[in-house]
Amino acid sequence: MVQFNLPKNSKVLKGIYFKDRTGSKNIKKVHVYRWDPEKKGNPTIDTFEVDLTNCGNKVLDILNKIKNEIDPSLTYRRSCAHGVCGSCAMNIDGVNTLSCMKSHKDINGEINIYPLPHLKVIKDLVADLSTLYRQYESIQPWLKTKDNKSKKIEINQSKENRKKLDGLYECIMCACCSTSCPSYWWNGEKYLGPAVLLQAYRWISDSRDEERKERLKAVSEKLKLYGCHTIMNCTNSCPKGLNPAKAIGSLKKMLATN
Ligand code: SF4
Ligand code: SF4
Ligand code: FES
Repeated sequence: MVQFNLPKNSKVLKGIYFKDRTGSKNIKKVHVYRWDPEKKGNPTIDTFEVDLTNCGNKVLDILNKIKNEIDPSLTYRRSCAHGVCGSCAMNIDGVNTLSCMKSHKDINGEINIYPLPHLKVIKDLVADLSTLYRQYESIQPWLKTKDNKSKKIEINQSKENRKKLDGLYECIMCACCSTSCPSYWWNGEKYLGPAVLLQAYRWISDSRDEERKERLKAVSEKLKLYGCHTIMNCTNSCPKGLNPAKAIGSLKKMLATN
């Protein structure tokens, strides 16, 4: 089991300054949040002077360059590098986004990189998403049918019904929305948050699913859905351009009219 040793209210201190050794004139200063559970100290902000010559355009390219050429201990998640897996989500210059999609050319001046906010930190830029994954599992994100026969054959869907999933199926569960939602910050254990609610709505909207009523009832309990106060941070932060606030609104409307 993961152990978290970060003391409560610990201050973020100034960390190591990694000066450029290449002599390049094309330098970007990058400040990165660091915390190593094994060192048992306070978190720090390390500063790296990164030579952008021969560096790709994305913030993830900068992190890879730091890891490969300056400090191999820097820890962050990434996999696809194409905005598909959702694993490289972090807070870049105050905005939750995917580091593999965010161009550093769009950031004037120095770059600040933190883990996704309001989560426990496992190490450096890796935040603990286990509560969110538990909540995701709780909505049973798979097609549910009551008839045994339909399990064995392809279940067709009309073009119109398929279209209802547009804007929902594209969600990659990166958690940028949930970790930018103030309601989720304060009630994260009870309120499901925008990412999981958008997913719940995706299955409720699927014409092939036969447990719509049960699913609606399950999300309507206490704070699971009604923790949302329509602040809209979630929609503003989605790197895939989705609208979780609208999905939550549709769920509330369904419950009010069913
Ligand atoms: S609209 Fe709801 S889910 Fe989105 S940020 Fe606001 S409170 Fe959170
Ligand atoms: S709705 Fe957008 S921000 Fe939220 S988890 Fe899905 S892809 Fe990420
Ligand atoms: S590495 Fe997969 S979304 Fe960024």
